[in-house]
Amino acid sequence: MQAILIGFMGSGKTTVGRLLAQKLATEHADLDDLIIQRAGQPITSIFAKHGETYFRQLEHQTLEQAMTVPGILSTGGGTPTIAVNAKLLMSSSVPVIWLAANDQTILRRVQHDASRPLVNELDENVLLALKQQRNRQYAAAADLIIPTDRLTPVEIVRQIKTWLSTAQRVLQG
Ligand code: S3P
Repeated sequence: MQAILIGFMGSGKTTVGRLLAQKLATEHADLDDLIIQRAGQPITSIFAKHGETYFRQLEHQTLEQAMTVPGILSTGGGTPTIAVNAKLLMSSSVPVIWLAANDQTILRRVQHDASRPLVNELDENVLLALKQQRNRQYAAAADLIIPTDRLTPVEIVRQIKTWLSTAQRVLQG
């Protein structure tokens, strides 16, 4: 992996990940899509039929495998909040980038999307409390934090590319 994107649901991980991969001429993988392929069913039905614990097991196995493949990986919003995943992310040398967004931005993006079981289940205040609670876990896993509210995907990708090339220069001495 060249970079791993983390952040709450609706923070733009998939959009930015795709664009970043395109600009770096590399592959993009979306962890949720890999889980869907592996399970042969959508995330909502994995949660409904097997529960969140089963989903998290699948998510962990899929993350482990995805991290061995080159390219850009967009994770799910809960991925770095699970201890085994956090450990994996923190012990890897792949840069982890947190796309941070404020509450209004997130609500606007996820409100009318029925594909996220946690958005369907939780009322707005509980969802925002979960977001607040996760911030510290995102911060612990991240090597770079980008506050994205005022940025377009193109601007976010530009910032990531600049940071990645500087980080690479520092690593190479
Ligand atoms: C989840 C986020 C989702 C997906 C699942 C659980 C979470 O991914 O993995 O619904 O716990 O925040 P996105 O962040 O891509 O929506």
